[in-house]
Amino acid sequence: MFHHIKNFFVKKPTIVTKEDILKDPLPQHIAIIMDGNGRWASSKGFPRIAGHRAGAENLRKIIELCGDLKIHYFTVYAFSTENWKRPKEEVDALMSLLVEYIETELDVLKKNGVKIKIIGNVEELPNKAQLQIRKAEKETSINSKLFLQIALNYGGRREIIDAVKGIVRDTASGQLQLDDIDDNTFSKYLYTVDVPDPDLLIRTAGEKRISNFLLWQCAYTEFWVTSVYWPEFSSKHFYMAIDEFQRRHRRFGGL
Ligand code: FPP
Repeated sequence: MFHHIKNFFVKKPTIVTKEDILKDPLPQHIAIIMDGNGRWASSKGFPRIAGHRAGAENLRKIIELCGDLKIHYFTVYAFSTENWKRPKEEVDALMSLLVEYIETELDVLKKNGVKIKIIGNVEELPNKAQLQIRKAEKETSINSKLFLQIALNYGGRREIIDAVKGIVRDTASGQLQLDDIDDNTFSKYLYTVDVPDPDLLIRTAGEKRISNFLLWQCAYTEFWVTSVYWPEFSSKHFYMAIDEFQRRHRRFGGL
């Protein structure tokens, strides 16, 4: 209830443990902009794709951690609508990595009760990727422990425009009345339908911007940035982000 009390009475620790964060309510929905794969690779003298590979490996670990903490919703930004501008070689490698990732991880995700949903324009992805995605969504659809949203070919503005189109269509056909359109109705036309807005958004690799990610949904989301590159983001940083979240007094615009 009064988790902002941590601000006044508990000294901010330099190392945050799992026990520390379990003393207060956890964020129900965490989102991450997994940035810095390329810079991580360059800093080690590796090709960029080695960075993405290491990033995918790290994603596996952080998904496990979410399961361990009993976080209900987890959303990651894997490929934006702007990422097509990258060299073809890198785009192709990212797509193959995605297919490979789902192929190798699906059984474990199923076993761990993870329900997968891809948000973004899947129909514009290569056929092979689409097939893997649909298979993963179908085979995990009955799971309910952790709801994992992977943003792929995702853009926040595009999502909002798609929602507007859906609303206009349903209004024109008489299924929806103009006066019934409010925040709640609008949310139902987004890709994230039925998923609560993120409580905490983490961005790795130092940039302090939203980069067209969950624009509507992040209206009141707490933002936490670290300079650590995504492949090196670990449980230590995850706990620090959650601890900081628990210290902030969330007012939702009120007093
Ligand atoms: C940002 O790093 C990361 C991406 C554009 C892709 C994120 C992908 C993964 C973490 C792995 C693949 C995911 C799945 C689901 C298989 P960047 O390349 O922009 O890094 P830079 O800013 O240092 O160049």
